[in-house]
Parts: sequence; structure tokens; C-alpha cells
Amino acid sequence: MAQVLGHCAADFLGNSCHHAGVSGIPGLDLHLELAAARPAQALSAALRSAIVAGRLAPRTRLPAARALAADLGLSRNTVAAVYAQLAAEGWLQPRVGAGTWVSDDTAAAGTVRRPRRPAAAPHLIDLRGGVPDVTGFPRGEWLAAVRAATMHAPAAEFGYGDPAGSLRLRAALAGYLARTRGVAAQPEGVVVGSGFGELLVLVCRALRARGARRLAVEAYGHRRHRRLIAATGLEPVPIPVDGDGADVTMLEGADADAVLLTPAHQFPLGVPLAAERRRWLVAWARRRDALVLEDDYDGEFRYDRRAVGALQALAPDRVVYLGTASKAVAPSVGLAWAAPPAGLRAEVLDQRELGGGAPAGLQQLALAAFIEAHEYDRSVRRLRVRYRERLARLEQTVARDLPGCALTGLAAGLQCLLRLPPGDDERRIERAARRRGVLLEGLAAFRADGFAGRAGPALVIGYGAPPPGRYDTALSLLVESIRAA
Ligand SMILES: Cc1ncc(COP(=O)(O)O)c(C=O)c1O
Repeated sequence: MAQVLGHCAADFLGNSCHHAGVSGIPGLDLHLELAAARPAQALSAALRSAIVAGRLAPRTRLPAARALAADLGLSRNTVAAVYAQLAAEGWLQPRVGAGTWVSDDTAAAGTVRRPRRPAAAPHLIDLRGGVPDVTGFPRGEWLAAVRAATMHAPAAEFGYGDPAGSLRLRAALAGYLARTRGVAAQPEGVVVGSGFGELLVLVCRALRARGARRLAVEAYGHRRHRRLIAATGLEPVPIPVDGDGADVTMLEGADADAVLLTPAHQFPLGVPLAAERRRWLVAWARRRDALVLEDDYDGEFRYDRRAVGALQALAPDRVVYLGTASKAVAPSVGLAWAAPPAGLRAEVLDQRELGGGAPAGLQQLALAAFIEAHEYDRSVRRLRVRYRERLARLEQTVARDLPGCALTGLAAGLQCLLRLPPGDDERRIERAARRRGVLLEGLAAFRADGFAGRAGPALVIGYGAPPPGRYDTALSLLVESIRAA
């Protein structure tokens, strides 16, 4: 039975609207596709995936079991049992006399996790790793870049663009990356994307099309990136990380065709990949005819000495360099770039043709003008000063108020690691912080599923996101949460 709930969508709306003080979601269009066999499991899976995908938002009222049963041609008891099961798992909330609702906090429900880190609600203080400070976004300078780019671009720039991205932006990026990160790339070799994730997917699909099967990843890293990799058909294989970055010697036994690393500043441990490991890695890649995907997400933010150069410079034929404007300017710029080895470029662009186009041309032109006017450099410098100052305040706080805790990974970036005394419970601290309105993540939240090693207890402290006026409050609440847990 393949059911598309066209009129049930209206039912969802209607049910919501009958209740005073509860508004429906205008235009909600919920499709549930149910397999003929085992309709209860199919309904339960369809509701779960609609919640995970956000098609059923928190606090949406579901139709009465009887109404949904009639729509789907199921018995009322089947639907009621599914509702009860999903309520027990935390996805749904039955309210006495007021029907069944999607839970407020579906992230904690069941075994399926929310796929995306939600943006923090404005009243919450965000101390999660990797979230940049956007309060100082250079509005005037960006506007000037948009204006200059729009006024002076040749008419051809307003047409269908090059699938690799605007050549003007690629030239600006090639120059910037060579100057600041030592990246060896010609403008023709750069591919512009709408975010690191998009480019990661294109590269993974290109590798998969070549026959690659396994992509090694750092055992601690972004859950979303591992999910993206798996969704392309490659198997993410975790390798351990320690104080010298990823233990790349473990690649030997990992049977991997490629590896994704954060060499400049391991995310989230915060350490650079040691020099001898870099050399070992390049030798491995050549020996095995493998590729290294270098995620250089915050390579410009180095506080102790000159920036650790990009790994790509050691082996442009083996390394796919990947960077983003999200940390150096702001995530809403929505642009990232890749410099793949020449032999992979056409395959990456082929995947782009299959999956969509280059990001909006006008946005690319604006970023090109922004870089050409050296505003990108200025943005990095401004943020670097701000982050370094925040880091110093965090260090003072920990030294003064948190005996037994230690900070590591301090030399770069916009997050570091707060090591907790043995026996401290990351999850309890996360919950204590949440009760105080602070979003915080323990190190375990970044561990790859199935990876046996344990690196905690520790908290990943992102010092970028809290607005300047709330940073001291954020630190006091951090201390309070650790003491209370
Ligand atoms: C380690 C790491 N890589 C890549 C990115 C992603 O960059 P983008 O914003 O372009 O998706 C992030 C952003 O949080 C990150 O923390």
C-alpha cells in the first residue's frame, strides 16, 4: 500500500486549528509512504522519519488515531498502538483530552538521532564547538562588496555560470589560499561549493564512482560528516586520535581508499597533526594510491605562532584541500571551496552535474570582491583577536574556579577541550548546563559509533558563539554546571 497523505495533510491542519490557542502549520504537506506488508512498522518508520526530517515539527498535533486509520485504511488499534510506541520512545506526547503531539524535544527520542545540530534559540547560550561569532559580521564591508561586484561585473557574469564556480572567485581564492595557507592551486583547479558538506559529498561520490569503498575518518569528529559519507555509499572507518592528531599509522590496517582529516586543528581535540605523521600519511597515500581529504575549516586561526600550513602543499597530487568561509566570515555566506588533485577534478564536476549546480553566482562575485578588497583578511584578524581574548578569559576561569580540570587544544581555532577529573560524567554536566540555558557538548558526543577507544571525560568548549555581552555569564554558568553535576 503506497499511501500519499494528500488530504491527510489537510486533516493535520484541520485538527490543529480546531483547538483554540493552537495554530497549525500552514502548508504542511505530509507524505507517508507505507509498504503493504507490516503496516504498523511502516507507519511508525514513516512518522519517525517525518519528525527527523523536520516535516513534522515539534509541537505539531497529529490527527486522531481514528481519522488517520480511516485515511490509511488501517485499523484504529494499529494506529493507536503505533502512537503509544512512539510516545514511549519519546517522539510523541499524548496529552489527556487534547490528542497526540510531536514532542518538544525529539532529539532525545529513540535510537535515531536528530541529524542536524539545531541553531540555538536566542535565549540559549551556545558553548558548542565550531560555532563562530557572527555578532561582528562586517555588514558595511559586505554590502560594499555586493555593490561593487554587482555594479562592475561584466554582463556575462549574470548568465549561467561555470559549474566549477566563478573564475573571478576562484582566482581570488587561489591567491588567498597560497598566501595564507601555502595551498598550491591554480584558479582553474578550484571548485566552489555551497558549504563543506556539499563538497565532501561531491568528492565522496566521485571516489565511490571510481570504486572506492572505505573512507577513514578521525574517531572523534562531526557526526554529520560521517552521516554524509555513509549516505554516498562509502563506509566511514574510524581511526584513533591522540595528542599528535589522528594516528595515521592505523591506516595501514584500515583497508581504506581515502581518509578525511582536520590536520591544522583536529576537530574537536584541537591539536595539529604532528609533522612526522604528515610525512607518514603522504607516503601511505602514495604507496596505496589513496587520497587524503584535508578539512581546513579554521586553519587561519592560530594563536601561538605562524599558522600550520596546509597539508596539501606537501602533496597536491594526493590531497583534496577543503576550506570554508563559515568560520572566517560567517556561515550565512554559504560558500566553501575544494582544490582536488588535477586527476579528480573532472569527476567531482561530473558529480555536481548529477546533483545540482554551483552556488549563486552573485554571492560568489560578492565574496570575490570581499577578498580582493582584503576584507576577508581583516575579518580573520578581527575574529582572531576576539577569540584569543575569550580564550584567555576561559583559561583564567578554569585556573581560578575549576581545580582538577585542564584545558588542551588552546593554540588555534574557536574551540578547545576542557579535561574533567576522572569519574566526572559528561552527560550530567550537559544536562546541568541545559537546565541553566547553556548548550554544551561532551567529547563523547563526537565519537564515531562503534569506536571502542575512550578519550574523555572532557567537554568541547566553543568560545565563539556567545554574544560579547554574555560571555562572562556563559563562563559562570559553565563553572556552575560542572560543580552541580
Ligand atoms: C570540523 C569542521 N569541518 C567543516 C565544517 C563545515 O563548514 P561549513 O560551514 O562550510 O559546512 C565545520 C563547521 O562547523 C567544522 O567544524
